[in-house]
Amino acid sequence: MKNIKAIIFDAYGTLFDVNSAAEKCKDKIGDKWEGFANFWRTTQLEYTWLRSLMKRHKDFWQITEDSLDKSMKNYKIDPTMKNELLNLYKSLSPYEEVYEVLIKLKEKNLKLAILSNGTPSLLNELVKSNNLENVFDDLFSIEQVGIYKPDSKVYGMPINKYQIEKNEVYFLSSNTWDVSGGGNYGYNSIWVNRNNNIFDKLDYSPKHQIKQLGELLDIL
Ligand code: LAC
Repeated sequence: MKNIKAIIFDAYGTLFDVNSAAEKCKDKIGDKWEGFANFWRTTQLEYTWLRSLMKRHKDFWQITEDSLDKSMKNYKIDPTMKNELLNLYKSLSPYEEVYEVLIKLKEKNLKLAILSNGTPSLLNELVKSNNLENVFDDLFSIEQVGIYKPDSKVYGMPINKYQIEKNEVYFLSSNTWDVSGGGNYGYNSIWVNRNNNIFDKLDYSPKHQIKQLGELLDIL
């Protein structure tokens, strides 16, 4: 597409592996680590949607801790592991291709940004701990608008800042509901389908589907 002016990435699950915190503790947690990691992530997202609907905002770090508390009880994880898991969540690992692809994108004349539920300090720390601090033009946090994805105020942030049209954005997310949220807002959404999942039925079909971020370079 010729008219693209900005490439906007979701953070958690798209650039950074949300399961990597629990995975790094798999020796202590045992075989249930993956079920636990998925439950933690699902509960965390449910809390973002529920809090937005209830108009009882708490920031993403507090929600991450609240959802961890429930998940640890549900999976009978030793409570003394809580701080270790939370600390690991602050420096989640990126997917293996992320660094190389971002460096190549940086050479193009496009805005590069993250748009995420994460707080500004969480996003800064994630980017810094993964040596990506000079790559992005902006780290947009939902804290600027006080409501979680998929509220349209969230997707509007880069449009307002860059003064561009919605259809001049490629928005990439691994989260199907976030692809639909951005797409329904008016972005060209690209689904990063790393695990052969099934897409949602929410009145939007992704403009492109890729298995890893490197395929974006062929689309541009
Ligand atoms: C984020 C979540 C949705 O980074 O992955 O916004």
